[in-house]
Amino acid sequence: MNFTIQSNLHVAIIMDGNGRWATGRGLPRIAGHPAGAEALRRIVEAAPGCNIGTLTVYTFSSDNWTRPQYEVDALMSLLGCYLARETPRCLASDVRMTVIGRRDRLPESLCLAIENAERTTSGGRILELRLAIDYSARDAILNASARTSGDGVTRERFAALLGESRPVDVLIRTGGEQRLSDFLLWECAYAELIFSKTMWPDFSPADLRRALDQYSHRERRFGGIPLPPPANAKGHWLR
Ligand code: FPP
Repeated sequence: MNFTIQSNLHVAIIMDGNGRWATGRGLPRIAGHPAGAEALRRIVEAAPGCNIGTLTVYTFSSDNWTRPQYEVDALMSLLGCYLARETPRCLASDVRMTVIGRRDRLPESLCLAIENAERTTSGGRILELRLAIDYSARDAILNASARTSGDGVTRERFAALLGESRPVDVLIRTGGEQRLSDFLLWECAYAELIFSKTMWPDFSPADLRRALDQYSHRERRFGGIPLPPPANAKGHWLR
């Protein structure tokens, strides 16, 4: 495989397919979520070796509140367990954990676990792991708009109000669906999109490396045109 290491990427992942992974094994669909959390742990471990500097993952969308209460409860409790278990691991491996999204509708115990994780890992320098919980990109854009003063709004200032750490370079969605589902709409303006049919609990570090290999073959033009090959002093093209 011709894998070119990219420097310091921001990768975002829509971790889809937990429910289908479970039902495909004759298990209740919520059994897919703990398996999905394990897959995330493996991906976080592999991320720095893939030169990922920022990893933003969609763990609970604001539209997920419409799921049956038992599934919402299972996800909230799993998120709390994940944060409690991963905080010391992140601290030991120099990973900073932050959470984006609304906090006012989360259980208090989860808010405390988030605050503890953010505080404890705030010095992490190898990777920023951003968990999107009760997150909606459209709501984030509306909230940022409400905080702008009207005039003098620049893209940079708006991005800061949005809490955008940096633009997304590559967005991966597993589970075979090909949509953005209200995830990082502003930040993904020029993201390369990679869709995988693999259900999230089966998504492995090797799959991550394959996705980044695909990304490394994309030409990012940001609305421009391909750069011409370099010319020598006489103006002749060198290749
Ligand atoms: C989509 O699968 C996944 C979610 C709604 C939540 C993502 C959660 C995890 C990966 C596990 C929990 C993570 C942490 C950090 C604790 P789906 O249920 O929509 O699957 P389906 O499309 O097959 O129904």
